[in-house]
Amino acid sequence: MQASNVRYIGVNDHEIDLFEGQYYVPDGMSYNAYVILGEKTAVLDTVDLRKQADYLANLKEALGGRKPDYLVVHHVEPDHASSLQAFLDVYPGTALVGNAKTFQMLDNYFMLGDTPRHVVKEGDTLDLGDHHLQFVMAPMVHWPEVMMSYDTDDKVLYSADAFGQFGALDTAPDWNDDEARRYYLNIVGKYGTQVQAVLKKAAGLAIEEIAPLHGPKLSKEIPHVLEKYQAWSTYTPEDSGVLIAYASLHGNTAAVCEKLADILDQKGAGDIMLADLARDDEAEALARAFQYGKVVLAASTYNAGVMPAMDDFLHHLKAKNWQKRTVGLIENGSWAPMAAKTMKADLEGCKELNILEPVVTLKGAPKATDIPALEALADALMA
Ligand SMILES: Cc1cc2nc3c(=O)[nH]c(=O)nc-3n(C[C@H](O)[C@H](O)[C@H](O)COP(=O)(O)O)c2cc1C
Ligand SMILES: [Fe+2]
Ligand SMILES: [Fe+2]
Repeated sequence: MQASNVRYIGVNDHEIDLFEGQYYVPDGMSYNAYVILGEKTAVLDTVDLRKQADYLANLKEALGGRKPDYLVVHHVEPDHASSLQAFLDVYPGTALVGNAKTFQMLDNYFMLGDTPRHVVKEGDTLDLGDHHLQFVMAPMVHWPEVMMSYDTDDKVLYSADAFGQFGALDTAPDWNDDEARRYYLNIVGKYGTQVQAVLKKAAGLAIEEIAPLHGPKLSKEIPHVLEKYQAWSTYTPEDSGVLIAYASLHGNTAAVCEKLADILDQKGAGDIMLADLARDDEAEALARAFQYGKVVLAASTYNAGVMPAMDDFLHHLKAKNWQKRTVGLIENGSWAPMAAKTMKADLEGCKELNILEPVVTLKGAPKATDIPALEALADALMA
């Protein structure tokens, strides 16, 4: 192992309110980057502009007066590449290493002038002397230009956004299924086929460590993490249990969902999770809809359609390729309930959904007469 001449130069970001402008990150975010101080010196990625100063300070210290020969750009998205201009201002003449698409995209963001370009393709190797980086293309995981690199000497896979998670390293130093799931399914979830392609390539490498661009470096967790990625990228449920996701204008539908949760619990349905789509983190609800095989969608009718929070949720589920699930529907409406019809229309095109019949229709406040329909829905979910 030559790990001794590889330095971490990444940063933690606790000031960020929403990652990618939409995801809550209560534990912050890390943008990871490394320097390999081989016979040649390679810097692996920059970080978000927000933390540029910290990054440049880390880099300067790690280099100890040496000059970088290469800057490898695994991913051009600004959370990793937006400090590239500042990097080049400090270390002009450093050769950028990327694939053809990397450079097309870099030209969208930067004026690179005569900065040297080292263009690589699948299987090419960058020789650093005592380290050799072999490139593995990973298109759409999660942009078209994404590539990983495999250090054939240290047996470390620098995996770009894959195998990352939300959370800064000082507050969330360990792999966490829930935050990794919420990260993966919201950010990369749509591209299961492309992730499968990369997993097949990774299976051919002897990997001792995975170093993603976000979250902790992985070693002993690798078999567990690969198992999770296998499930997530094939849209296979991980756990027995039921997500009950609801959108309720006045709380009656919410109360019915609480009742259904009790019934399911008494029947031994496993984990039961309730999500208020108007108030709870929608990205978390989305991740749970992938975790479990069974999902109940319950909503108030709203202007001859469905409450917008539910419309939005279903739109996101569909966009992330949600499929292979058993779905129960509950609708509420005082004069002409339309929520179930609207939810079904929203889900059209999702593959292999088993939408249970009959739909539970409520007209206002929950009543004792609604209980048999809820019992029947619980039985159908558990069948
Ligand atoms: C703005 C608004 C629009 C509504 N539109 C409809 C409608 O088009 N059809 C209907 O049957 N009920 C409609 N309703 C009534 C609700 O669906 C009904 O009150 C339902 O019981 C609400 O359940 P909740 O307490 O879970 O929100 C509407 C209510 C509001 C506040
Ligand atoms: Fe990304
Ligand atoms: Fe990223």
